Amino acid sequence: MTQLHPPTVPRALRQALIETGPIGSTTRQLSVRLAQPESELDGLLEQLARHGAVVRIGRGLWLLSAYAHLDAREDFHAPEDYVERFSRECGVVLGRYEGPITFADNSNSPVHRWWPYVQGYSAEFVAGVLEDEELRRGSTVLDPFAGSGTTLVEARRAGHRAWGTELLPPAALAARVKTHFELSGRRLQSAAREILRHAARRASAPPPFLRETSRQFIPRTLRQLTRLRDALPPPGGPQSDAVRLSFGRVLIPVSRLRRSPCLGYGRPDANQYRDPFAEFSRAIDDMVEDLEALGEVRAHWGPPSQVWEQDARTLTLPPGSVDLAVTSPPYVNGMDYVNNYKLDLAWLGYAHGYPDLRRLRESLVACDNLGRAAVRPHLGTEDVADSWLREILRQIRSNVDRKQSYRRDDAHGVVKRYFLDLRPVLAAVYRALRPGGRFRLVVGDSLLAGTYVPGDLLTARLGTEVGFRIDTVDVARRRWSGQRRSFPLRETIVTLQRPAAAS
Ligand SMILES: C[S@@+](CC[C@H](N)C(=O)[O-])C[C@H]1O[C@@H](n2cnc3c(N)ncnc32)[C@H](O)[C@@H]1O
Repeated sequence: MTQLHPPTVPRALRQALIETGPIGSTTRQLSVRLAQPESELDGLLEQLARHGAVVRIGRGLWLLSAYAHLDAREDFHAPEDYVERFSRECGVVLGRYEGPITFADNSNSPVHRWWPYVQGYSAEFVAGVLEDEELRRGSTVLDPFAGSGTTLVEARRAGHRAWGTELLPPAALAARVKTHFELSGRRLQSAAREILRHAARRASAPPPFLRETSRQFIPRTLRQLTRLRDALPPPGGPQSDAVRLSFGRVLIPVSRLRRSPCLGYGRPDANQYRDPFAEFSRAIDDMVEDLEALGEVRAHWGPPSQVWEQDARTLTLPPGSVDLAVTSPPYVNGMDYVNNYKLDLAWLGYAHGYPDLRRLRESLVACDNLGRAAVRPHLGTEDVADSWLREILRQIRSNVDRKQSYRRDDAHGVVKRYFLDLRPVLAAVYRALRPGGRFRLVVGDSLLAGTYVPGDLLTARLGTEVGFRIDTVDVARRRWSGQRRSFPLRETIVTLQRPAAAS
């Protein structure tokens, strides 16, 4: 039968969707709210969607179509609004950077490939920055969020002294191994052979504490992995670090998981056996090959790098000791590094239970999975210096209050704590930089609870609070919001400068 009139949204459903506004509701949430079976609601929502009355966004959130276009809402401040306001208030017009920026560009690069870090940035980008700065050889380059050491590797390779802090133990391990160019490839190769011989003779043993281990690996892989793990040397020393890192590198490739960029299931070849021993050998071969190639340019290396497994917020370096700082902090509402690297943390013995994971998460810059207790002290929206941030916190809070059942009702507190976490790092870098020295940060923006958060521009403004001058802000690439696939976000290079005259 032909339908003459488009269906209207029933009153109770309309009311529920108005309340959740731009954030949206899942069918399950609506079903609980309206006491109506999910299957019935699903059919109705699909039908309404065909007629354009409602839309579905992200991972199955329903919105009244009036809320679908964020830009059409009066209370929504779009990225362009902030860009325009930024040029007016801060006197900086956004430029463009056309070169490579993501870690994907490093996947086949010598040394960087030793531990693929999705959250890392491009080595070519760092090399370009070092070149642009025209630093004299032997200058000091700092990365307070060193990650897997991209900045440190490039700085040392260019003949500079490289310093970094990193709190996530597997990333700090990667940064240490990747900047230890003195390692002997030949000795590493024979140590790896010895490990494989021992592993082959060992009995399999219990896996680490992670609840989902048996879902993460097929049984044969799991047995082989425990043998290999138990044949590794204890931590300590560059060679032990190198083989342990190579073990860490095989964990995801032999599992049923993938990082895209968050750790999750859904690998098409999930049940196929991949031999951990063979993967480990390949990882070692890559290292040996790169170490040998590195040896040929030995004369150009800078002095050994320092990787401090330390909180960047507590960094204290001699004033004026750093010539250039380059980094990429975690993004607002971004990655839960602990969850994403829980396999590495557990299998490499950095965490022995869930409380260890929780403690580590609480010590990192705030992410969306931070425990409620750690956010509780930061729920006020008015006690922040930046007027933009104040407005944004209020907006998130009001959107969430309206919705009531948002993933977390303290979302504005997480955002506030994020910027509170960044501030001491900016201040520490400011103090450590020589007058005139620059701090380059690769930062992202985000969309959270129906509110756009210009994380890059807010970081630049925060820089001015601790004394920096904003030098340039260049958009490096477009990315897509996890909350709304159709909402374009960006990744930006913010360059701050410590004024040459003391201030
Ligand atoms: C975007 S990643 C940096 C990636 C790096 N540029 C690379 O290429 O590998 C941000 C890093 O900051 C680290 N981090 C977060 N909070 C920290 C803190 N308070 N102190 C030190 N490192 C921290 C995270 O563990 C993560 O590795």
